[in-house]
Parts: sequence; structure tokens; C-alpha cells
Amino acid sequence: MRKWFIVFCVVTIPVASFLIYLHPLWSLWLIILLPSWLVGIYDLTQTKHTIKKNYPLFGRLRYVMEELRPKIYQYFVESDTDGTPINRINRSVVYQRAKRVLRTKPFGTQVNVYEPGYEWINHSMYPLSEHEVPLENLRVEIGSKHCSKKYNASILNISAMSYGSLSGNAVEALNKGASLGGFAQNTGEGSISDFHLKHEGHIIWQIGTGYFGARDHDGNFSEEKYIENATRESVKMIEIKLSQGAKPGHGGILPAKKNTPEIARIRGVKPFVAVISPPGHTEFHNSDGLIDFIQKLRDLSGGKPIGIKLCFGKLHEFEELCIRMKERDNYPDYIVIDGGEGGTGAAPLEFSDSLGTPMTEGLVLACDTLKKYGLRDQIKVLVSGKIITGFHMVRAISLGADACYSARAMMLALGCIQALICNTNKCPAGIATQDKSLSWGLDVENKGVRINNFHQETINSVREILGSAGVDHPNKLKRSDIFRRISPTKVKNLGEIYPFDIK
Ligand SMILES: Cc1cc2nc3c(=O)[nH]c(=O)nc-3n(C[C@H](O)[C@H](O)[C@H](O)COP(=O)(O)O)c2cc1C
Repeated sequence: MRKWFIVFCVVTIPVASFLIYLHPLWSLWLIILLPSWLVGIYDLTQTKHTIKKNYPLFGRLRYVMEELRPKIYQYFVESDTDGTPINRINRSVVYQRAKRVLRTKPFGTQVNVYEPGYEWINHSMYPLSEHEVPLENLRVEIGSKHCSKKYNASILNISAMSYGSLSGNAVEALNKGASLGGFAQNTGEGSISDFHLKHEGHIIWQIGTGYFGARDHDGNFSEEKYIENATRESVKMIEIKLSQGAKPGHGGILPAKKNTPEIARIRGVKPFVAVISPPGHTEFHNSDGLIDFIQKLRDLSGGKPIGIKLCFGKLHEFEELCIRMKERDNYPDYIVIDGGEGGTGAAPLEFSDSLGTPMTEGLVLACDTLKKYGLRDQIKVLVSGKIITGFHMVRAISLGADACYSARAMMLALGCIQALICNTNKCPAGIATQDKSLSWGLDVENKGVRINNFHQETINSVREILGSAGVDHPNKLKRSDIFRRISPTKVKNLGEIYPFDIK
């Protein structure tokens, strides 16, 4: 941290002065020391790089290591299927798009196209030019016939991440990005903070089992508190969180260290104790209860779209919900399917690695079940799970999604270096921490622009892919447009792998 640079200066300045006083030849050391001091001061005062700002001079070692990293190794092992949390190729793409540096990459294809699991979309002999894929086609109207305040959403939005799991500066920068680009930021289940409101970016307010921001002193749902937040101008949609891919069936976890007095005030809990939200909701225990709760939230919000977020679990439960929705002719305005491969700030290992349906199967099952019960035209489907590039979005939309959410790619755009210590409050990039000496280094203005850049570049990439495939609207994409290698010599399209066959 900054203190190491200060220690460095406090030690080297007097020692160097003393040695020069003893013999002028010692001033040769200034050739090394002077630039070090200047570089450190520059790092401390610049606003572009959080790591350099938080670790002046010494933070540069990271960039040296990055340069020394064996690029050949990277070339051979890194593909979409290599199983790492988010591979380095995709990570570099996010950095480049966020900084609007290089739009291209050298040397051609760097993934193994003969490896089972490799996926692609085919281009058309008659590609469309940019203006033939209008930008307004890359937005989607969310709101069923029961909703009076429909929301025209971007097809890419910032997925749920609470103030609490993220620092105030990170939340604020995300909001600034959303405001610049006209897309939406999901608050996560930690309620709405001042950081969500400062830049007037569109907000999707998420309500989890803790009812933070909508609870009374005993933790029960409070209509009064709910109305206060739900009727805010910035709140465009409201989302009931049933489960999340990284820890389905497990409540949210806010480690004690991250539960500062400010967060405790916003959430209505005691500070510096670990906050574990219960695994399930207390306001409903079955599909009818859930449908009633959805309608209640819709009415109390003045008619805003209400969604539910879940990691796909037991099919028969989802079917039963669909049957009741059909019978009662009432439903959420949108459903978010979060893949079992989803991210989090903190979760038990087994829950992250071995619970919940992966995104692809969850999305397919959800879309097909809704279709089976004739609900698909009223309910929009959003999806999240390692969506980072334009192709990931095109693939998700081909499978059935209307729009996408991204959480970790947005963190990368904020400058996350995947130190993988979000649960310790020591995030060196000032993102997943409540330590002000770390979040101090995250410059809201600069990172807000990067979030907008990343969004815009990714949307542009979707537009270009659609044009190249000869498709002018994402809703014309079909599962059969995406191909997957299933063995070194066999290829199937996703329509063959995931046919509409719900009985
Ligand atoms: C730091 C962090 C905090 C999160 N907090 C929430 C949350 O409060 N509510 C929620 O539904 N999902 C939460 N998520 C999950 C994301 O919203 C998203 O569903 C998941 O990470 C998959 O998207 P990704 O692969 O783009 O990260 C969180 C994820 C991260 C990385």
C-alpha cells in the first residue's frame, strides 16, 4: 500500500542525504533514487491505474511480471473451454475494450478450433453493413401486459453486485458508466446506496431474502420502506432474487469486516457482524405466494416491471410455477437465469463448484418450459454466466435469451486483476473491499468511462457479428445458428443438441 512508498522515502531520503554529506560520490545513487521517488509520486497522483495508485512504485512490478509471463504457454492452453474462472484472453479483451485501446488482435485464431467444445457462428455470403443493423434493435422492451411502466433495456446490463460486496467507488463508477451509456445497473441484494444514485444511471433494484432496503427492524418485508425505494425515478425495474448460480439455495454472505456502519445503516442491520441472509424468502413459500408477491410489488411500485432471478434448479418446481402462472394469467415481467458457473464475492466451495444448473442448460430449460406453457411472449428472459464477449451474447440470445447481464466482466472493466481475494476485504484494485485506503485508488470518473466503453464496444461487437451473419435483429437468431464441435471429427448445431422437446 501507500505506506510502503512512504517508508521507502522516509528511509532513503535521510540515508542518501547523510551518505552524500560524507562523500559527494554517493550522489551517484541519486541516478536510481531520484527516478524512483518521481515515479512513486507520479503513481500516487495519477488517476488511471488503481494498482499503481494504491501501491506507488511497487505496483509496477505487476506490469513487469505480466510482460515476463510466457506468451507461448498462453497461446496453447487458453481457450474458452480451459476451465479457469475467466481466461486471460477474455480478460485482456475486456481491458482493451474498457480502455479503448487496440480493437484487433494479432496473428489470427488463438484457440484450438478442433478441441471438443469449440463453438462458432457462420457468416453469410451477403453480410449486412452497420446501418442495416440499427442500434435500436439492440434494445428490448421489458414489461408484460400487467405492467404499466415498461422499460426499454439494453441487451447488455450490469449484473447484481451489492454495495457491500463492492466498494462505494466501484458502485459509483458502475452507475456512472450506466448513466453515460443508457444501460442499467442491478443493485444486488444490498439495497440502494447513495453511490447508486449519484449519477442517475438506471437502476434495477434487487430484493433478496434479507429484504434489505425494504425491511422493518425485525427483518420482515415493509411495504412502507419498499415504496420509498421502488418509486424512485432511477429505479426502472425490481427483481426478486430467489437464488444465484455461485451459491444456489444459500443465503447471501457479507463478511463482518465488510459490514461497515454505513452499509449496516443502508441495510438496516448491526455493523461489524457477518450478515447471512436466509436461504429462502419469508414472504412466500410456494408458487401462488410468489405470484401474489410479484403482483404486490408491481402494484406498490406504481406498475414497474418485476422480475425474478434464479439459478435453474428442479425442473418440476419450475414447471409447477409455469402451470400456476398460466392458470392465473399472472407472471413476472422477466426472469433472469443465472448459470451455476456464476460469480460471487464469497461462497462455500461446494456451492460454487457443485450446485445449480450451468447457464446453457438452465437457459434452454427455462425458455422451453415457458414456451411449452405459452408464457414466452409475455415474459422476457435475461441471462448471466461468464458473458464477456459479443459472441457470448450472440450465443446466449441464440439459445433463447432476450438480454444479458454481466458481473465479472464489468469488474474487469473496473480494473479487477483477479487477485481472487474478494472475501478478505483486501482487494488490491479497490473493487471488492470496504477498506477506504484501497477503494481510494479507484477513480470514479475514469472507471465510469471505461464501463461505458466496455459496454459500447461489446454491443458494437454484437452488431458486427449480426451483420456478418446477415441478421438485422438479435431476435432472428436461432439455436441452429451456433455450431459446437463435439469430437475431433463431429460437429452439431445447438438446435440439434438442445431441441425444443419439453414434454
Ligand atoms: C462481487 C459479486 C457480488 C455479487 N452479488 C450478487 C447479489 O447481490 N445478488 C445476485 O443476485 N447476484 C450477485 N452476484 C452474481 C452476479 O450478479 C451474476 O449473476 C454472476 O456473477 C454471473 O455473472 P458473471 O459470470 O458475468 O459474473 C454477485 C457476483 C459478484 C462477482
